[in-house]
Amino acid sequence: MTAFDSGHESATGGSPQAFGGPTPGSAAGPDGRTHLSESLRVDAVSKAYGQVQALDRVSLAVHHGEVVALVGDNGAGKSTLVKVIAGVIEPDEGSISVEGSPVSIRGPQDAARFGIRTIFQDLALAGNLSVVDNLFLGRELTKGPLPLRQADFRSMRRRTVEVLDGLGIGTIDDVDAPVERLSGGQRQTVAVARAMLTNCATLLLDEPTASLGLREARSVMDLVRRLRDQGTGILIITHNMRQVFEVADRIVVLHVGRVRASYRTSETLPEVVVKAIMGKAGNEGVG
Ligand SMILES: Nc1ncnc2c1ncn2[C@@H]1O[C@H](COP(=O)(O)OP(=O)(O)OP(=O)(O)O)[C@@H](O)[C@H]1O
Ligand SMILES: [Mg+2]
Repeated sequence: MTAFDSGHESATGGSPQAFGGPTPGSAAGPDGRTHLSESLRVDAVSKAYGQVQALDRVSLAVHHGEVVALVGDNGAGKSTLVKVIAGVIEPDEGSISVEGSPVSIRGPQDAARFGIRTIFQDLALAGNLSVVDNLFLGRELTKGPLPLRQADFRSMRRRTVEVLDGLGIGTIDDVDAPVERLSGGQRQTVAVARAMLTNCATLLLDEPTASLGLREARSVMDLVRRLRDQGTGILIITHNMRQVFEVADRIVVLHVGRVRASYRTSETLPEVVVKAIMGKAGNEGVG
């Protein structure tokens, strides 16, 4: 039992989660390996910003219990893809499937309903609200029977401290202070904690450790592994090749809006991936 096993289903707004729980569907394949079911698939997704083709028919899948690292140079389209999946921007074309079925994600609420949770590169916290408020924004814990139901501030505060402790974060000593008074790294920790507060089917992490200290970055990576082991499908964007090889099962390389290569981590080497990122490799590797 971790601090992140959520006991508050009502936190998602009372709607039933599309995600059937932490046990992923799986089946043993002919090679004896367990093949986990797809939590997310994007098919031929394109997005242009004026003249810039940020995404050009990008396809990829994330399975339950799998970490996929999405890598690529600055401007390759990584954050754009995350925003499309999270329902923040609409793609020009292409489709998204969740648990094997096509879905229409027209806004962040839809993404949440389909069990997709996101940590964006630009964090999107409410600066004037406290750490506790940010963690539970839009999914407040409540107590009491329906007509008299009220916000359960004490539980939210307790959970906040638990979650930050679980992340190994000792540096935020006042969870009631407004987030705008925190350092960049502390803010990022709050964003990570927010995304990890409840179980989700798919977790999208856009450079979650970019401004974290070593210890915090390591805690986030530990958490990623823990969530993966619980069956969450994770798509993580990072420029840190060491992290990629530490945590990812597969690697997808984006280059100028296109999937340039993909690899099983166990079957490739950092220098090969770096070459692909720089645009020096062909479409090698596995799908
Ligand atoms: N809102 C926007 N308006 C116009 N162009 C945009 C917008 N957002 C992104 N772009 C362009 O789309 C391309 C892809 O950007 P994106 O942010 O997805 O890259 P990225 O791979 O996340 O890069 P980084 O590693 O620097 O975060 C870039 O050329 C960028 O300039
Ligand atoms: Mg980005």
